[in-house]
Amino acid sequence: MFTSIQDRAYQSPKVTIVGTGQVGGTLALRIVENNLANVVLVDIVEDKPQGLALDLMQASAIANHDRQIIGTNDYSDTKDSDIIVLTAGLPRKEGMSRNDLLRMNGAIVQDIVSKIIPLSPNTILIVVTNPLDVMTYLAWKVSNLPAHRVIGMAGILDAARFQTFIAMALGISTSDVQAMVLGGHGDLMVPLPRFSTINGVPITDLLPEEAIASLVERTRNGGAEIVKLLKNGSAYFAPSAAAYLMVESILGDRHRIVTAAAYLTGEYDLTDIYMGVPVQLGRQGIEKIIKLQLNEKELATLHASANSIRENINLL
Ligand code: APR
Repeated sequence: MFTSIQDRAYQSPKVTIVGTGQVGGTLALRIVENNLANVVLVDIVEDKPQGLALDLMQASAIANHDRQIIGTNDYSDTKDSDIIVLTAGLPRKEGMSRNDLLRMNGAIVQDIVSKIIPLSPNTILIVVTNPLDVMTYLAWKVSNLPAHRVIGMAGILDAARFQTFIAMALGISTSDVQAMVLGGHGDLMVPLPRFSTINGVPITDLLPEEAIASLVERTRNGGAEIVKLLKNGSAYFAPSAAAYLMVESILGDRHRIVTAAAYLTGEYDLTDIYMGVPVQLGRQGIEKIIKLQLNEKELATLHASANSIRENINLL
């Protein structure tokens, strides 16, 4: 009389999350609680993804959704994923720069991508593992996927941090703040006050220069500030919210304009690099890279950020 829940759930898109730590686990929760997709959790640690999947399935009885979650250590379970989100890696510890992670996480990303992509050749790969821009470039190279289907998650998170600090400084809702942060996801990221507004009014008209400079600085150190406070681990609520927005924009074919690490072929006078730029996100992945009219100083800062990413790519 009834179709089994498994049969119905298979109508859902399939999102695989590799790395079931803080970011991966929280992202899975967001996806299923919004009824967005079935989720496959993969980790190198035995039993961990299975345990998390079971816990999430039991939560569904209370949280009112019908998505299916499985946990596995076997990549064959990820076959034909619509989206793969890569969060596997070692998180940054206090005093460790994102670049310290480069070699360790590089080996992890290379291993996973080479195993998982042949099973889902039509997938869209979202990279979250740090150092973000370098790991996204590496994942793209190893995957052999077209560049518009390999995307790095950072700009939404950096912009969210800038938005939050602007809202706190002005005592207003974050919902009324739009912020733009380009460049690499690191100390040389490029928050753009001229393109950051309160419902269309640039913050440069509303806050003194020194106040903006300190908000920019706090944004650049946004991740490190949390690492320092947590002592054991790095941020995950905001990173998973940012990754969720990308997944939702792609599966819903929403054509959202967000900042993400994209492969550049001449945009902003940069070529053969992954870096944070405004993009349009839909079912095909990156549908368009948006070119802002940057002034000379903004462009120079962006190029300094690109140089630092390039140096790290060369270390791979
Ligand atoms: N294959 C699969 N999973 C792996 C592998 C691997 N080769 N190596 C590590 N992992 C898993 C770990 O077992 C762990 O469950 O990745 C997970 C990472 O989780 P956390 O340590 O909790 O890290 P998290 O805070 O989630 O951050 C993950 O996102 O924001 C970035 O800098 C952060 O690169 C880090 C990533």
